[in-house]
Amino acid sequence: MNKAENQILIIFGASGDLTKRKLIPALFELYRQKLLPQKFAVLGASRSALSDEDFRNLANDFLPEDEQLDAFKELLFYQSVQNNSANDFVPLKERLDKLSNKLGITANYIFYLSTPPSLYPVIPRLLCENGLTRSEKYFRRLIVEKPFGTDLNSAKELNQQLLNYFEEEQIYRIDHYLGKETVQNMLVTRFSNGIFEPLWNRRYIERVEITSAESLGVEGRGGYYDNSGAMRDMLQNHLLQVAGFVAMEPPVVVEANAIRNEILKVFQSLRTIRENEVSRYVIRGQYTASHINNQKINGYREEPGVAKFSRTETFVALKFFIDNWRWAGVPFYIRTGKKLPTRVTEIVIHFRKVPHHLFGDTGTGGNNQLIIRIQPDEGILLKFGMKTPGAGFKVQTVNMDFHYSDLADKKVPAAYERLLLDCMQGDATLYARGDAVEAAWEFVQPIINAWDTNPEIPIYGYPAGSWGPEDTDKLIVNGNWRYPCKNLTNDGLYCEL
Ligand code: BG6
Repeated sequence: MNKAENQILIIFGASGDLTKRKLIPALFELYRQKLLPQKFAVLGASRSALSDEDFRNLANDFLPEDEQLDAFKELLFYQSVQNNSANDFVPLKERLDKLSNKLGITANYIFYLSTPPSLYPVIPRLLCENGLTRSEKYFRRLIVEKPFGTDLNSAKELNQQLLNYFEEEQIYRIDHYLGKETVQNMLVTRFSNGIFEPLWNRRYIERVEITSAESLGVEGRGGYYDNSGAMRDMLQNHLLQVAGFVAMEPPVVVEANAIRNEILKVFQSLRTIRENEVSRYVIRGQYTASHINNQKINGYREEPGVAKFSRTETFVALKFFIDNWRWAGVPFYIRTGKKLPTRVTEIVIHFRKVPHHLFGDTGTGGNNQLIIRIQPDEGILLKFGMKTPGAGFKVQTVNMDFHYSDLADKKVPAAYERLLLDCMQGDATLYARGDAVEAAWEFVQPIINAWDTNPEIPIYGYPAGSWGPEDTDKLIVNGNWRYPCKNLTNDGLYCEL
């Protein structure tokens, strides 16, 4: 692993939720593991008037009690900034100079945009006008949080705006799913095992299913979510990226551009779902009120911040094809939603049946399945047929499973730890590249257009706590979705959640 050079991380939106809940805890964990650069500081920036001390105290509420906490907090500083004109950033620049001098840190800077998206083009411009975006001697990097655009045009526009002030190589677009250990493990599973890759194509794989279920609802984010919906919030970014890892060709080397070139090719091969085909390939739903364990659960439209007659989808299921040599004719399915029975993200590879059935029904209908569990109970499960002991040839499906928790001495790092560390080391492999983000929007845009313009496309209600609209089942012809349980090895509608 490269050692990260000395640097300062400047977090815009420092008084916001993401900073407190994810960024500072991730930095503390890196600190505890001694992975931060030798000389390092965090400069929080936002409009609120806070002192260094206030900022340290804010962070405190989200950090575990630990003997190293006080020493870590010494690395945190705060600068209040307005963002109306270039002059507003002068105090920030002066503060950075002072910090660099005082702490002996060279002027390597990472600027992290964790602000409302309307500021994404503004802050880079003000940084540029203050000469902070480029340097001959030092690195300057920009991390951009999601959402990256709200549609194809806004994503393209944002890319162009950022490129006015930073080079593509300096821009790190966060997709925290890429920071998940198990998503990265997909590369290792596929490309370091001789047994999987020969089967990883249309000849042996019948279909691929990706599920990302959440049991939580919108949890106080109704205002944001109602303008977003499951398609923009989860599918356009996180889940298409996961599909990219499942479907990509082997990269020439494990290096940012080699891997990202392959992901881009997958996105470029996505078969367009035309507006008049949307009802056939896409199901959208919205959770309605229900009772779980005798407790009333609000419907989506009753959530704070959500419009009374909202038509925003909290669930989406999609069937699509990747038109290339490897995947021609293999359907891919993605399903994601809020207020589903459990929180699970997993990929199921359904292998084709044997060509001739000697033993009748095998319990799974004869398809072997490989399940790659992203979370929780991270691991891998292979399902295959075995003879039931006794007379005759009765076949039953059995499990072969590996749980990440068995690597007991290794903690699975949180996504933000990995991503922050990678950016500090200048490795953009697990960040989305501008062209791929646009290609993903290109695929999703006709679906959103059809929803916006054709009121006849239904938005199905589904009771909170169920697996989504019943019509979701109709997407998969001759098969069923897997209904995962918390535990990797179990599935079914009635398992423990
Ligand atoms: C975020 C979405 O990007 O991902 C949230 O905005 C969603 O709505 C979250 O809950 C899911 O992430 P994870 O890591 O909990 O699966």
